[in-house]
Amino acid sequence: MLKTVSEQAFEQRRSALLAQLEDNCAVMIKSAPMVSRNSDVDYLFRQDSTFFYFTGFDEPDALALITKKAGKLEYHLFCQPRNPEMEIWYGYRCGEVGVVESFGADMGYSNLDLDEKIPRLLDGISHLYYSLGRAALNTQVNGWLSTMRSRSRAGVVTPSHLLQLDDISHEMRLIKSPAEQDMMRAAAKISADAHIKAMLACQPGVMEYQLDAHIQHHFAMQGAGQAAYPSIVGGGKNACILHYINNNQVLNAGELVLIDAGAEYQYYAGDITRTYPVNGKFSPEQKALYELTLKANLSCIAMIKPGTNFNAIHECAVEIITKGLVELGLLSGAIDELIEQEAHRKFFMHKLGHWLGMDVHDVGNYKIDGQWRELQAGMVMTVEPGIYVASDDTEVEARWRGIGIRIEDDVLVTEDGCEVMSRAVPKSVTEIEALMRQGN
Ligand code: GLY
Ligand code: MN
Ligand code: MN
Repeated sequence: MLKTVSEQAFEQRRSALLAQLEDNCAVMIKSAPMVSRNSDVDYLFRQDSTFFYFTGFDEPDALALITKKAGKLEYHLFCQPRNPEMEIWYGYRCGEVGVVESFGADMGYSNLDLDEKIPRLLDGISHLYYSLGRAALNTQVNGWLSTMRSRSRAGVVTPSHLLQLDDISHEMRLIKSPAEQDMMRAAAKISADAHIKAMLACQPGVMEYQLDAHIQHHFAMQGAGQAAYPSIVGGGKNACILHYINNNQVLNAGELVLIDAGAEYQYYAGDITRTYPVNGKFSPEQKALYELTLKANLSCIAMIKPGTNFNAIHECAVEIITKGLVELGLLSGAIDELIEQEAHRKFFMHKLGHWLGMDVHDVGNYKIDGQWRELQAGMVMTVEPGIYVASDDTEVEARWRGIGIRIEDDVLVTEDGCEVMSRAVPKSVTEIEALMRQGN
């Protein structure tokens, strides 16, 4: 059954946002635009996450303006105007009347009227919040403020404070409500089951993109029409390319394949990585590095609970991987000194994880007042340690070269610990080998 947040959630989010702001303020949030790919073909449209979070409105070229005057909120929504000709070619538009009827706006307007209406609506507003740093919006805001300035002798009062909305909106998005947690569970479960399908379909001779086809098919059949990001399907040394998305090589017996793929369900992302042998059986070297990566994954997950320092989890992974690489002979020296020198970065060159939500690399600050922040219930993060040995690394024995491994899970911080939302997909050597025997 389709899960989604309730209609009221969007209104509650707008109220909660404005409740944090001073009186006589306005918040401006812009939708994503349509982007042309070539001639009259557009890229697939995906709404801006913050815009959707506060509006639930999924059309391009819209702008929301919420004002607070004497404590009273007014929600103005600018949208594409109805247009029979355009709707024949591109589909239904909600229009100015529709956004009031169906999306809770107090006033709906055509986006063709932005330049006329916005200066009027901002007249007398002292604090204007928007996403500073978005070039297109900055240019528009500058134009509207300039128009207002030019009317000062007519008594128009221009906002005197331009403030960063992202600090506040991102903090709200970082803590997932119970309804959002449900959708993230659904995204993680669909993603996990898709990984199982790919594991069962994997065998020598299959192309990397063909494994992705199993994954995309499962996403769509389970109601996730889009992926959260382009899948990474890297066989052999391609697994060492962190953002490999060509996915156009054949998978060979004796190599590992790394798949990093996640569904987007109702605007919420899954982000899972599994690495396994193409022929279903780990070699001794693959197994040794895999089990070291898995030890880091499991130990980091065990630390996740409210109050844990975000960076302490990364440091746990660094310590485990550094020690393990010394034991296996890929690094040599005193552990403390190697950690001090960040020697692990040659093999584990990214952070342990990131926030996950409506965006795969979700919003939210990682530091507060210069300090790595502590986890809170409702946050979702990935745990994704990796070990990647370059195929041309002559400082290690040849038997290790070209092995790339990442094990990534999606973890919700709960009141008393955590929930691994991606747990359905196997990750121990025994479980993976047993599952792959079923596929072959
Ligand atoms: N899929 C991107 C990442 O794992 O960060
Ligand atoms: Mn990933
Ligand atoms: Mn990730």
